[in-house]
Amino acid sequence: MTLRCDLIIRDATVFDGTGASRSRADVGVTDDRIVAVGDLRSASARREIVATGLALAPGFIDAHTHDDRAVLCGPECMLCKMSQGVTTVVVGNCGVSLSPVRMQKRPPPPLDLLGDESFWTFGSFAEYAERLARDPAPVNTYALIGHMSLRVEAMGGDTQRAATDKEAAQMRARLAEALSQGASGFSTGLYYPPNMMAPTDEVIAVAEALRAAGGVYVTHMRDEASEVLASIEETLSIGRAAGVPVVISHHKCSMPENFGRSAETLPAIEAGARNQRVDFDVYPYPAGSTVLMPDRVRADVPVRITWSIPHPEMAGRMLDDIAGEWGLELKQAAERLTPAGGVFHQMDERDVQRILRHPLAMIGSDGLPHDAFPHPRLWGTFPRVLGHYARDLGLFSLEAAVHKMTGRTAEVFGIADRGVIRAGAFADLVLFDPAAVRDASTYENPTRPAEGIVETWVNGQSAYVSRQGATAARAGRLVTRQTA
Ligand code: ZN
Ligand code: CU
Repeated sequence: MTLRCDLIIRDATVFDGTGASRSRADVGVTDDRIVAVGDLRSASARREIVATGLALAPGFIDAHTHDDRAVLCGPECMLCKMSQGVTTVVVGNCGVSLSPVRMQKRPPPPLDLLGDESFWTFGSFAEYAERLARDPAPVNTYALIGHMSLRVEAMGGDTQRAATDKEAAQMRARLAEALSQGASGFSTGLYYPPNMMAPTDEVIAVAEALRAAGGVYVTHMRDEASEVLASIEETLSIGRAAGVPVVISHHKCSMPENFGRSAETLPAIEAGARNQRVDFDVYPYPAGSTVLMPDRVRADVPVRITWSIPHPEMAGRMLDDIAGEWGLELKQAAERLTPAGGVFHQMDERDVQRILRHPLAMIGSDGLPHDAFPHPRLWGTFPRVLGHYARDLGLFSLEAAVHKMTGRTAEVFGIADRGVIRAGAFADLVLFDPAAVRDASTYENPTRPAEGIVETWVNGQSAYVSRQGATAARAGRLVTRQTA
């Protein structure tokens, strides 16, 4: 009997996501699954692609996103990701998740990264999941529940303080409820002013809900600058106290006085990893991006404005330029621009490379999809790692690069049967040209689609085709953490 498939990709150079050496093989897909990998000369399919010279990898898993709202608004909203080969996004990072809280007025920063009150309509994670089921996203969604969202729900407008025991218990109950409805973990953004007021004990009290549900704790740490080592210790202690695995978000050593300190932070994380589960994600750029906080602007950290409510015309311009034009100090100009966001040139390229190269690193974009003039990571992260860092700089092999964005990420988050090419796995796939793949977006032109990504499939359906764009497919699903 000859095998008949929906799709066969023939003679591809297969990077299977495990980090194993590439091999030439045919890959057969039927319905939403990979059904065969190997020599499929005797098999046939409704659609056959000859992929000689092209690389086939598991669809990329974006370990760190703020796509909570973008996954709900159709294929065009996710073009930035599918054009990079991304097929699954982890939403709800940095303490910011679109559920379980409704907003009557503009949410406080950084919750407003996801938009104004009109988008905050999900009073429970079940309602969010229901919306995803009714109106599927073009990519798979894996969801974390944000500490700040829980805080605003439990504490109302009064979040500039520690939560009471009662409020912490309410947050823990809401988190437990969300985990029972398909959320997979809990995120904090302790760096941000209102959440800074949350002591370690409050975080542990809420994170306790993770243990019974087998959830994961993910954190934008309290300090990624001078106190980064103390923050790593705090993160590890939260993981131990709650008895859960931890993921450090977008690991970095921030601010010029801390350049080079990844030589201290990585060994500290490794030491922790000997006793407990700890991993981290990283984006491949020496600049960060978030809301603009006037108290934190510094002359030695150039800032490019990514959006501004009162001054939308300033998006894309440098803060010091704007301040000069207005005849103001940097801080005063920032005050006049807020609510606003920026790109902050606050890291050292050598730290970025050392962190990317580390075996515990996963790739996450931290892209901000609603910014008027976004950080280029939104459109460029994955091709930049494959092209610039792996191929051009030789920082690591293409096998290692693919592993950091597929198999490793699936393992850390407990995403079953994805992030790997093997018979029986879901058919999340990306076909790309390893010689041509590159990021095209820059700080000055941040929304150019990447080059060299030929086609992206989600659950067996073609989601993105080079030069044509996003297809109409909405094959994405809510994926939840599975623990052995
Ligand atoms: Zn963050
Ligand atoms: Cu983030």
